[in-house]
Amino acid sequence: MKNNLKLCKADITRCRVDAIVNAANSSLLGGGGVDGAIHAAAGLELLKECMTLGGCEVGQAKITKGYNLPAKYVIHTVGPIWNGGGNGEKELLENCYNNSVALAREHGLRQVAFPLISSGAYGYPIKEALHVAISTLSKYDESDIDIILVLYDDFTYNLAEEIFAKMNLLRCGGGIR
Ligand code: APR
Repeated sequence: MKNNLKLCKADITRCRVDAIVNAANSSLLGGGGVDGAIHAAAGLELLKECMTLGGCEVGQAKITKGYNLPAKYVIHTVGPIWNGGGNGEKELLENCYNNSVALAREHGLRQVAFPLISSGAYGYPIKEALHVAISTLSKYDESDIDIILVLYDDFTYNLAEEIFAKMNLLRCGGGIR
């Protein structure tokens, strides 16, 4: 089974892909975390274009050019703030990934790199955030788009590998013999 979903540990601002996804806030005017890193690397032109977008709803996605980034485009999406898990957070987070892939497809992009949306300042528990990211993004196997989930530290990367391996085994109907 061709598996288009790849995991990697990196600084997403250095990824040379068609688009990197930004874990933004609804103003789209920058912030800390990966949002701050992307704006710092892309330069002021990115902020200027973001100012023309009129913000973004939680779960939705908007696209800009990448400017000084090695990536051609930035897809900005707004993750849900974790509020205990009973307020539609999972569906909103799934929407972030699906709407970002849809936007990439609309623009004919073939390679998209995602950070682990909502798992930092927005407080989404890392294991659950990984489950949502990996199960949602691995739906795009065998598709026309290569997807990379970019983790930023060893702990999160190792946990992602563990979850990914388990899910892959399950998907291929395999088990540890
Ligand atoms: N490359 C890849 N991943 C990164 C990078 C980077 N350079 N910097 C941070 N990360 C990871 C974090 O370790 C975390 O796993 O991105 C994930 C998302 O964390 P945040 O950036 O805090 O994003 P989020 O939890 O979605 O909160 C968004 O924070 O920065 C503000 O403006 C942003 O208000 C918004 C909120």
